Amino acid sequence: MRLIIQNDYENLSKWAAYYVASQIIKEKPTENNPFVLGLPTGSSPLGMYKNLIELNKKRVVSFSNVVTFNMDEYIGIPENHPESYHSFMWNNFFSHLDIKPENVNILNGNAEDLEVECENYEKKIRTLGGIDLFVGGIGPDGHIAFNEPGSSLNSGTRVKTLTTDTILANSRFFDNDPNKVPKTALTVGVGTVMHARTVLILVNGYNKARALAQGVEGGISQMWTISALQMHPKGIIVCDEEATYELKVGTYRYFKDIEKNNLNYENLITTA
Ligand code: GLP
Repeated sequence: MRLIIQNDYENLSKWAAYYVASQIIKEKPTENNPFVLGLPTGSSPLGMYKNLIELNKKRVVSFSNVVTFNMDEYIGIPENHPESYHSFMWNNFFSHLDIKPENVNILNGNAEDLEVECENYEKKIRTLGGIDLFVGGIGPDGHIAFNEPGSSLNSGTRVKTLTTDTILANSRFFDNDPNKVPKTALTVGVGTVMHARTVLILVNGYNKARALAQGVEGGISQMWTISALQMHPKGIIVCDEEATYELKVGTYRYFKDIEKNNLNYENLITTA
């Protein structure tokens, strides 16, 4: 696993955006052979999305041959609800890009048969040859997508019940009222994310420090689903300084040293 420690959220976001853009550019995707990108919601990726929109507007990277799969969606709120992940993704990202709407895939939390919806999602990913790059965030309890503690590290797309922790954390988007937060969601599995060729996880802020330490230094455990990344052949975490507060000094210094020549985001695109 690589751990890229950036000074602050702004640099973390720039590095992530330039990394994503560099991977798309490198693949030279075409209509018949698109780049397949997995994407998260949440506050962590907002800066990356802003930077990717800028890179797209400057024509540094095009999304015209990119197919996306989102990680998760709440069950039972209308697609046009301001806090649905459909609304989030269109408002914060897709509407500002040259992406083809038919290339955007987001789970339907109102599907008549939720199990079939999940099966079809996995099938579609497989038909496209798998996910090239899955970008994700983590919850304070180390969950990835909605794979709450105790989720199988080999799981696929399915229905999950949200923990009280997650409901409380996400109530800030629902008038600070936990009762308004949906109690279940559709989510890709830990296995779905781990099958991607590359996984990039964004971690910022003090409230993620414990999860980062467990993910990097702890054992592989279903109780911290992010720790599955330790088994991935190409797993990268980009974090800010605040998120490193629970790491051992030695761990922090090791990654600072080994990645010292890889922190400059601008080099990512010139070398792509
Ligand atoms: C939700 C999402 C996760 C996300 C997490 C953290 O639980 N399902 O995919 O990583 O929130 O969100 P934030 O980035 O806002 O801290």
